[in-house]
Amino acid sequence: MVAMDKIVSLCKRRGFIFQSSEIYGGTGSCWDYGPLGVELKNNIKRAWWRDSVQSRGDMVGLDASILMHPRVWKASGHLDHFADPMVDCKVCKGRFRADKLEDARCPQKPSKQPGQHDACQLTEPRMFNLMFKTFMGPVEDEAAVAYLRPETAQGIFVNFENVQQSMRLKLPFGIAQIGESFRTEITPGNFTFRSREFEQMEIEFFVMPGTDEIWYQRWLDERFAWYAKYGIRKENLRLREHDKDELAHYAKRTADIEYLFPMGWSELEGVANRADFDLKQHAQFSGKTLEYFDEESKQKIVPFVIEPSAGADRGTLAFLVDAYREEEVKGEKRVVLQFHPELAPIKIAVLPLLKKNPQIVETAHKLCADLRKRWHSVYDDTASIGRLYRRQDEVGTPFCVTVDVQTVGDEQAAADGKVTIRDRDNMQQIRVPLASVNAVMEELMDGGWAEVHRQHGVARG
Ligand code: GAP
Repeated sequence: MVAMDKIVSLCKRRGFIFQSSEIYGGTGSCWDYGPLGVELKNNIKRAWWRDSVQSRGDMVGLDASILMHPRVWKASGHLDHFADPMVDCKVCKGRFRADKLEDARCPQKPSKQPGQHDACQLTEPRMFNLMFKTFMGPVEDEAAVAYLRPETAQGIFVNFENVQQSMRLKLPFGIAQIGESFRTEITPGNFTFRSREFEQMEIEFFVMPGTDEIWYQRWLDERFAWYAKYGIRKENLRLREHDKDELAHYAKRTADIEYLFPMGWSELEGVANRADFDLKQHAQFSGKTLEYFDEESKQKIVPFVIEPSAGADRGTLAFLVDAYREEEVKGEKRVVLQFHPELAPIKIAVLPLLKKNPQIVETAHKLCADLRKRWHSVYDDTASIGRLYRRQDEVGTPFCVTVDVQTVGDEQAAADGKVTIRDRDNMQQIRVPLASVNAVMEELMDGGWAEVHRQHGVARG
């Protein structure tokens, strides 16, 4: 397993993820996605949305606002229960999670666990609510208090009736949402794993009471398979069912899909059976009946809810870690991110073999412009070909296309009108007519290297 500092350094060096407000010394547990990071994260969100919403007949989407009525958080239980036990150090003024002291570091030197320096004076643990508090409007008084949402789920529950009725949905059906959530996390610093501002990709799947256990299992299987579909190695994924005393205040049952992150097995996504907790709570606090009329039994019921709740940032980190490989090629170290082509930030790099040959450059530019219509493609001529390949390997570009003298011809030889396509993972190459590059790429992006290779053969090793 790759060490986290290698991932952090690659992310900064190659424009995936930067510390927020870095030039001011950074903002704790907040991160900025650079040019390649935003592509990767967007691709993950797009794949999730397509697979969870658009390609199913029983799901619809929603985009609710981050700021909600403060009573939402009373009803949901977050105001009363969404808290972590914290201790403060009276000497260094640090604040640490009482249940994670072994992961924390005291700011006094040498670096030790809080409480281990002679001078440390830790308070008794106290519960601190994890919600960010703010004020709506010009007056900063109790009546104006508002919270940044700590989960996107509540935006779905409070819109249950709007969505069900406007779309005339029949059980079972789900509502999906991707959006920012905020928590005042005290973090032990595992890069983006636990941030204060992060994106969730949540599904609330409403079912008939009594069918909830079946749907819980189905969603667990579905979500586990989703990570494997986009390339995460199965041996790095596992399921962990929560013990009764670990369950969140709303959950009847929860299992985490865990990933083997560099710091050990940790939650990647949670799948919970929230039963009818949320709809009943909102019915009680809002005074609206949030029920569903079942045509078959002619009865009104409160649906049960299965919630697969994934983090876009944690997912991005897992895909980055899992894709990372260090290999030795001809005595040299090669770093490669073996992203699934759908997730790769750049799909194709077009590389002219001789940047001083105007015909090669023109052909390469034209090809790149053409490929860009369909795939995120880049043109690069700023180094030797070996270096350009390594650069693209390091950011996970699945295919490089080179245009060379043979493509355009010279005084000695006629043009063959072909370009070389190189595969990132096996580093094999094929030679393909310019006119078929688009069609070949379609097949390659679909995982068809073996077939394309059989047709076009090896050009160079
Ligand atoms: N609605 C249920 C819910 O929010 P959760 O287990 O607290 O459950 C779900 O969060 C997912 O959101 C986690 O599995 C994780 O992927 C992501 N997540 C939660 N807190 C996070 C944080 N502080 N930083 C990054 N991702 C986080």
